[in-house]
Amino acid sequence: MDLGIRGRKAIICASSRGLGRGCAEALAEEGVDLVLNGRDKAILAKAAEEIRQAWGVKVTEIEGDVSLPEVQERLLLACPDPDILVNNNGGPPPKNFRQLDRKAILEGVTQNMVTPIELMQGVIDGMIERRFGRIVNITSLSVYTSIPGLDLSSGARAGLTSFMAGIAKTVANRNVTINNLLPGKLDTDRIRVTTKFGAEKSRMSFEDYSAQQDKQIPAGRLGTTEEFGKACAFLCSAYAGYITGQNLRIDGGLYPSAF
Ligand SMILES: NC(=O)c1ccc[n+]([C@@H]2O[C@H](COP(=O)([O-])OP(=O)(O)OC[C@H]3O[C@@H](n4cnc5c(N)ncnc54)[C@H](OP(=O)(O)O)[C@@H]3O)[C@@H](O)[C@H]2O)c1
Repeated sequence: MDLGIRGRKAIICASSRGLGRGCAEALAEEGVDLVLNGRDKAILAKAAEEIRQAWGVKVTEIEGDVSLPEVQERLLLACPDPDILVNNNGGPPPKNFRQLDRKAILEGVTQNMVTPIELMQGVIDGMIERRFGRIVNITSLSVYTSIPGLDLSSGARAGLTSFMAGIAKTVANRNVTINNLLPGKLDTDRIRVTTKFGAEKSRMSFEDYSAQQDKQIPAGRLGTTEEFGKACAFLCSAYAGYITGQNLRIDGGLYPSAF
């Protein structure tokens, strides 16, 4: 299926590895030019070159922490009139909530709530003017169901979800949509960090804990970055203009409720 977005332009935050990279690959496959971002220069350059080679689209690399105003400025300078914004970042390290001091809490809220809001503010009026915009926020299944140790991540992303829900309604009539993708357990570097935390807490080996976790997923396995990226690309497609304010779980059936 041609998603009808060939030649469009996307800023994809935190996209040199993992889920952001999956979104970048899927959009590049559809012929979208990209601004790719990550803090590690070498990894970012390698990802950008691989995407250029594979899909022949224009890829601009913007190195740096997406939460910093000067990095956000460079992202917007590299692509002043994006059609697509994918908000993403690394997520706070898993921690017992008792160990979070004020600095850590503010950093988590800045990364997972303030930064996507700031970037949305930077792009949305242009999208409204041009009558096309797709904003996708990568949040987490932990917005729906708590995960011990990820309380800061859950709280900040729940705040982001509510903030964006109201805005989505004010721009829908200009063909600008805002949706959230909620990863459950997908095969990336990040899942290995959270699995290690869970294994240590449960006093189990990484392998045993990981196998136990996989069994709890109705699909019986971790999801792939490709599966995640394709869902993102559809939400960014020409055909998704009537889908907005949604929270789409990509979790292999892990979330227990029917609703
Ligand atoms: N994987 C899952 O199953 C899962 C589940 C629930 C929620 N999530 C959330 O989904 C998001 C993406 O996770 P992932 O699994 O793709 O993680 P990942 O594999 O660790 O990849 C994170 C990517 O973001 C970049 N990055 C991290 N912090 C950044 C920052 N401050 N500024 C710019 N780039 C940054 C990393 O590159 P550099 O390190 O070079 O900057 C890398 O490209 C995270 O917020 C995570 O908490 C993931």
